[in-house]
Amino acid sequence: MIIFKKFYPPNLLLALTCFIVTGCSFDAKELYLSDSYVEAFSSGWGKAKADSSVTGTPLMIDSVLYLKGIGTHAISEASFILDGQKGRFKAFVGVDDNAQSDSASSIIFYVLTNKGVAFNSDVMKKGDKPKPIDIELKGVTELFLLVESTSDGIGYDHADWADAKFIVRKAPEIKLAEVEEPYILTPPPAAKPRINGAKIVGASAGKPFMFNIATTGECPLTFTAENLPEGLMLDVAKGLITGVASRKGNYLVPVTAKNSRGECRDTIEIVIGGGLALTPHMGWNSWYCHQTRVTQDIMQRSAKAMYDKGLINFGYTYVNIDDGWEVKANSDDSLLGGAVRNADGTLRTNKNFPDMRGMVDYIHNLGLKAGLYSSPGRTTCAGYEGSLGHEDQDVKTYCEWGFDFLKYDWCSYSNEVKHPVSLEDLKKPYILINSIIKRADRDIVLNLCQYGMGEVWKWGKEVGGHSWRTAGDIGWITPELINSMFTAGFFQETIRQYSGPDGWNDPDYLLFGSIWNWQEGRDTQSPMSPSEQYTCMTLWCMMAAPLIFSGELISLDDFTLNILCNAEVIDINQDKLGKPGYGVHKQDFTEIWKKELHDGTSAIAIFNKSPIKSTVTVDWKAIGYSGKEEVRDIWRQQDLGTATNAAEFEIPRHGCMLLKVK
Ligand code: GLA
Repeated sequence: MIIFKKFYPPNLLLALTCFIVTGCSFDAKELYLSDSYVEAFSSGWGKAKADSSVTGTPLMIDSVLYLKGIGTHAISEASFILDGQKGRFKAFVGVDDNAQSDSASSIIFYVLTNKGVAFNSDVMKKGDKPKPIDIELKGVTELFLLVESTSDGIGYDHADWADAKFIVRKAPEIKLAEVEEPYILTPPPAAKPRINGAKIVGASAGKPFMFNIATTGECPLTFTAENLPEGLMLDVAKGLITGVASRKGNYLVPVTAKNSRGECRDTIEIVIGGGLALTPHMGWNSWYCHQTRVTQDIMQRSAKAMYDKGLINFGYTYVNIDDGWEVKANSDDSLLGGAVRNADGTLRTNKNFPDMRGMVDYIHNLGLKAGLYSSPGRTTCAGYEGSLGHEDQDVKTYCEWGFDFLKYDWCSYSNEVKHPVSLEDLKKPYILINSIIKRADRDIVLNLCQYGMGEVWKWGKEVGGHSWRTAGDIGWITPELINSMFTAGFFQETIRQYSGPDGWNDPDYLLFGSIWNWQEGRDTQSPMSPSEQYTCMTLWCMMAAPLIFSGELISLDDFTLNILCNAEVIDINQDKLGKPGYGVHKQDFTEIWKKELHDGTSAIAIFNKSPIKSTVTVDWKAIGYSGKEEVRDIWRQQDLGTATNAAEFEIPRHGCMLLKVK
């Protein structure tokens, strides 16, 4: 029950106007969104405020002052339950004049009801004229006020619902947000063998090769492989192919995995001399869960967890240390500080990494690969030793240690170039490190981390990158995370033509499970709801993005394990055609995406970006199908029957469906 602190009795004129305009009776009340409703609003940063902007200044949009209303910060939501009787909802919306940035504050206001989208402001920026809202409430039992951010992030998104009021007889009730409980969709792997993950793998001739035939099924399993390139051999008990292939070429290798329950046959294409990342990388990175507190022990225990918890059997391969393993010059911490290099310039690790070679051997012995991080600048983003001026020596050291993957993070290299930075300068450090890696005696997959500068997707491959971050960090435990996941994720569609085998757009890591919350100094569960996590994984698979999990591995919970380890979902990501998906239908908050697969079949993802549960209708013919195709629900691994003219799916808030159509 809502207690109204302020009540505005209608005067005769108002009531008359109300009657003429809405047809509602004289006892309709004007209930302003003010004190009594402020608690309905969630707000991205700061708390929503009654009768003032989110920063506490008077509500003002393009120099128009409003005495009543709610000031919020995108992303913000408020939900109300109404009686479905006649009435109106009115407001003026816009960016508050007091937002400190003109360029970054762009937002969209929506009013959603149980009947659909009732108002969409389109993108509004600071200085835009207030937009009026006037909605008839007859038949409306639920009303949802939403402010979304746009691709420029949530900074300065000060959103005003000015003069906002219900003109109704019965006061609407605030509907509190429902907390979604984790729900597992992935069925347990079958006892019979199934070969999962990449079916195409690349390496250079004359350099060490390692490929694990990722397989689920009851143990013990035994493997066979025919037609292996000269120099490679199979460990029949582990399903691990190793050695040094001597000759370039494409080798189709029929493989089998057997156990007491049956046999699985497949073909692995081994490409020697034709690229190193023929499907998106799969693995884990230490950054979001361990930050610079990472240690050798954590890395080894994480690798062990990747093996023991079975992620390796789905194709997860790389175990990558992020920032924090180098020495940090001038650090007071005796574990981190000290000499950054030996007298001859070779790189040192800090004391949290006493035996890098031993650590990498440990990872390799599990059938996994190892990655590390550096910067072309003097220091890394967290202030540890970078590679500037020591590139040759550093790559030599990485090879001696046995690393297979390098994330090369721009960071302080900004200090080495003129501003504004030219395209040539953006490319330079990557061209250099790639030329050194190419001459090295190991294959090293190169991940460019420079936050999308200079539209890196257009030239990342040309400078030797196997993947490149397309934007800034996806975020920490902040309200921005969900926004940046959606923004970074859906943005990929616009640059999909630059992503494919051996060069992938990288929208950053999978932030599921337990993540380090630096603001509060503790581990926290991902702020994404279970449905949002399904959406994230689905989106990353649909756009063939690297699947690098960066939550805690050692204490991985069942829900997170099941999001990460659904073999049929991963098949969509690892499909050897390597073609990112694209939208085939977009309306309001619904997006339907298609991803073409190598065998002529396709995957369809249906995203409900709306903050309320929605029923989405898929018109198969309208999106290019004949209606005779078989449809399978990939998350649940269940056949749904034929794609008749239209199908309806009920999808949770921010949730999705992933289907295979053949
Ligand atoms: C940058 C990168 C992150 C992470 C940190 C480490 O912010 O974008 O992915 O590597 O540096 O300091």
